[in-house]
Amino acid sequence: MWNYTEKVMDHFLRPRNVGEIAEPDAVGEVGNITCGDALKLFLKLDEAKENIVDVKFQTFGCASAIASASALTELIKGKSVSDVEGINNRNIADFLGELPEEKMHCSVMGMEALQAALSNLRGESDGKMTTGDHDHGDGYDPDGIDRIVCYCFGVTERQIRDVVKGNGLTSVEDVTHYCKAGGGCGGCKKDIAAILEKVSEEEPEPASEPEPEAPKKLTNVQKMMLIQKAIDDEIRPGLQADGGDLELIDIDGDTVTVALRGSCAGCPSAHITLKRWVEAKLHELVSPDLVVEASKG
Ligand code: FES
Repeated sequence: MWNYTEKVMDHFLRPRNVGEIAEPDAVGEVGNITCGDALKLFLKLDEAKENIVDVKFQTFGCASAIASASALTELIKGKSVSDVEGINNRNIADFLGELPEEKMHCSVMGMEALQAALSNLRGESDGKMTTGDHDHGDGYDPDGIDRIVCYCFGVTERQIRDVVKGNGLTSVEDVTHYCKAGGGCGGCKKDIAAILEKVSEEEPEPASEPEPEAPKKLTNVQKMMLIQKAIDDEIRPGLQADGGDLELIDIDGDTVTVALRGSCAGCPSAHITLKRWVEAKLHELVSPDLVVEASKG
């Protein structure tokens, strides 16, 4: 007996959105009844064809297949097409709390049904990703990534690679749990092991570095307000502590003219105070382009 979470049992016993949509905008069909599990997903979109307003499913499978399909419909109903494009089997399993490792292929079936339906919606296919009949169809490349690896369950190298990469799988047993390949006669296990090795040797795709954000250019008003705030909050209190003070006289472009007051006014180090204290503070708090000058008046 599998150890199912309460949420899995709830979606198995009370599956949401079961049935068929009479005139769907897209259909995704995966699996094959002769091989075991099968899932058919129907999508209805709004007039703009941007949002999924209704979704229904029919499935032939075990408790976790029903729960995974039900969870998928809850994840995508009412969402935009672009929002659901990235949904994967992990999202389905997470929605249900957890699925036994041996049943992860049910969440993969949900992900594949969604991908098939979206492909159908884009007009790229008839939405059928049925396997097991070994009808390869047009464009089948027996030496390529779409070659069938597991004939018992009609699983291709591409499908195996996808579950390996998407879930960080490292063993043939894991692969069987996630897509059934290897779970029949076992004749494909050597091939699966070879694919695992190839994937582990492939360079991980470089993570794209986020573009450094260009510093935002301040408007004149923003610059003036920030300078005044920096002077009032940071610079004057520091000078006043030593009996001095500072007055803002003018701002012209990046030139800030100030007058030192109090004990600072006649100080022989006034120039150093302006450069190393006042100008440095304004660089830190407002802009590194600012130049501080003493008022001549
Ligand atoms: S060919 Fe894969 S289990 Fe039989």
